[in-house]
Amino acid sequence: MRKSTLFLKHIALNVWRRIQYGRDVYMHFPTYSQQTDSFLRSTGCHDYVRYASIALAAKRIQAEGVDGAVAECGVWRGDLSEFLQHCLPERELYLFDTFEGFSHQNPEVRNNDARFRDTSAESVHRRLGNSPFCHIRKGFFPDTAQGLESATFSLVMLDFDIYEATRDALNFFYPLMPRGGYVFIHDCNSPEYDGACRKAVAEFLYDKPELVLDMPDLWGTMYFRKL
Ligand SMILES: C[S@@+](CC[C@H](N)C(=O)[O-])C[C@H]1O[C@@H](n2cnc3c(N)ncnc32)[C@H](O)[C@@H]1O
Repeated sequence: MRKSTLFLKHIALNVWRRIQYGRDVYMHFPTYSQQTDSFLRSTGCHDYVRYASIALAAKRIQAEGVDGAVAECGVWRGDLSEFLQHCLPERELYLFDTFEGFSHQNPEVRNNDARFRDTSAESVHRRLGNSPFCHIRKGFFPDTAQGLESATFSLVMLDFDIYEATRDALNFFYPLMPRGGYVFIHDCNSPEYDGACRKAVAEFLYDKPELVLDMPDLWGTMYFRKL
């Protein structure tokens, strides 16, 4: 087909779409706002799919009026925490981490795993503008969840990397979530700790009605919505 014919066809299709829908229709992937896009560019984040999926979940939580706070388990330097605050600025945000790297209290952690020590609770709190909505729970999870047994959570982001902590977090948060709440679990389709998070999720959901979805992001996040 000649180029000029193709061009005319393209114009005709757009005119038809405008008549049909009253505006231009484009397919965006991923479909998030320009605000999210510029936020990601400014922070240099490379895991576009993961962040965009979380932004969409936040949007849906707001649109559907799913009640509850936001929790991030495994915070490190607060990269994702800042994004969660950006997406849901008026929700309480609970941040769980030792802020000293993996804990010796967890026998599963390999002795020489010294990652994630280069942070502090103070620097993360500062990064989030010392917001009164931000609650830092410093120490070993699940000990740090004490006192939150009657709270409600609409979005829970699990990124502890290891089996025990992920299992404990699923057990703790699941009953505190209303229908429609989102749980994201990082590192499920990744070799991190020999598939520890994937195992924790599979065991936990074995007798639950929810099914996981696999996200095509950089580190194999899985997620589900509470039924
Ligand atoms: C992969 S990092 C989190 C990265 C962060 N979510 C991000 O997007 O940049 C994992 C974190 O989990 C924390 N962690 C692992 N097990 C924990 C436990 N039982 N209690 C508290 N923190 C834990 C470690 O200290 C580490 O900072």
